[in-house]
Amino acid sequence: MRILGIETSCDETAASVVRDGRVIESSVVASQADLHRRFGGVVPELASRKHIERLLPVIDEALEKAGVTLRDLDALSVTCGPGLVGALAVGVAAAKSLALSLDLPLVGVNHLEGHIYAAFLTEPDLAFPALALVVSGAHTDLVAVSDHAQYRTLGRTRDDAAGEAFDKVARAMGLGYPGGPEIDRLARTGDPRTVPLPAPMPFRRRSGRIDDSLEFSFSGIKTAALRALHAAARADGQFKADLAAGFQRVVVDVLVDKSMRAAQSLGVKTVMLVGGVAANTWLRAEMQRACAAAGCRLVVPPPSLCSDNAAMIAAAAFYRLRRGGGSDLGLGASSDLSLEQTPNNSLA
Ligand code: KG4
Ligand code: ZN
Repeated sequence: MRILGIETSCDETAASVVRDGRVIESSVVASQADLHRRFGGVVPELASRKHIERLLPVIDEALEKAGVTLRDLDALSVTCGPGLVGALAVGVAAAKSLALSLDLPLVGVNHLEGHIYAAFLTEPDLAFPALALVVSGAHTDLVAVSDHAQYRTLGRTRDDAAGEAFDKVARAMGLGYPGGPEIDRLARTGDPRTVPLPAPMPFRRRSGRIDDSLEFSFSGIKTAALRALHAAARADGQFKADLAAGFQRVVVDVLVDKSMRAAQSLGVKTVMLVGGVAANTWLRAEMQRACAAAGCRLVVPPPSLCSDNAAMIAAAAFYRLRRGGGSDLGLGASSDLSLEQTPNNSLA
């Protein structure tokens, strides 16, 4: 089964052809980072307009790279939420038009589910039950995955997402956009112990009482990092590297700590680390170390499948279709969609 995936939930216009949920025949991602860079973040209206301009050429390129035509497709899939509603609407309209004109099945995919299925592109024989840490510019969710499309969110961020905190701290330091990769790079030359920063919503409270919450909060650490930056007598290159290293270390520590607590309490032996922030080298290394110590198998996609792409959307759609799921032409874009709700998708 050959599925075309379309992803336009934020600032990447992406299309991909995936066979049987596992073979990526093509994956084209047109980033809008250059467009949004001067604003220091994504401007929703500009993103929607750019998607309109780029989506059809990106789909053409994906088909061409896969060496197929529209006639060779068996289904269409598209991110229907969560994300920027105007941006999502562009992809949903395109997918519905193609499904109608080609008379093919349509699958609306939850963006977070897409990120989780990037792990299946990496390890098709991934076993359930598993734990997924979905960590991106908009989400920090710990999810129990008991089977295909069976999700239970155990905890999420109460304020900023981890990626958002990376981006905001990077912006204040005058680094480029998106900021996560910049902090990752700068942190390599920094000493994480130089600038003391508080742990963001740690598992164990200072009083010694165990706080078993799997919720996250990153706005406090973001503010602490910004204060340290403004209070520095000389915010030179080395200071920024030290701050980047310290900030990254406390964020990674809490992500790894809560993931391992969750895996332990669920009794699962498979951990998936997915989403844009999963490209972070320190997070990958620390999660690998913690999983090895706990006897868990870590599945983390290559960086190109961590950040937004359409291959993960087509992969998720394959597993839904295989179980009799799918959407009708009433499919809409939804800015706020949890993993547990998949509107317009019936799942046998
Ligand atoms: O999944 P994604 O491409 O888009 C969303 O769904 O949000 O994630 C983008 C986020 C941005 O906040 C970006 O700064 C962050 O992922 N990111 C990183 C790294 N690469 C991307 N954060 C930390 N370290 C990285 N290497
Ligand atoms: Zn994403």
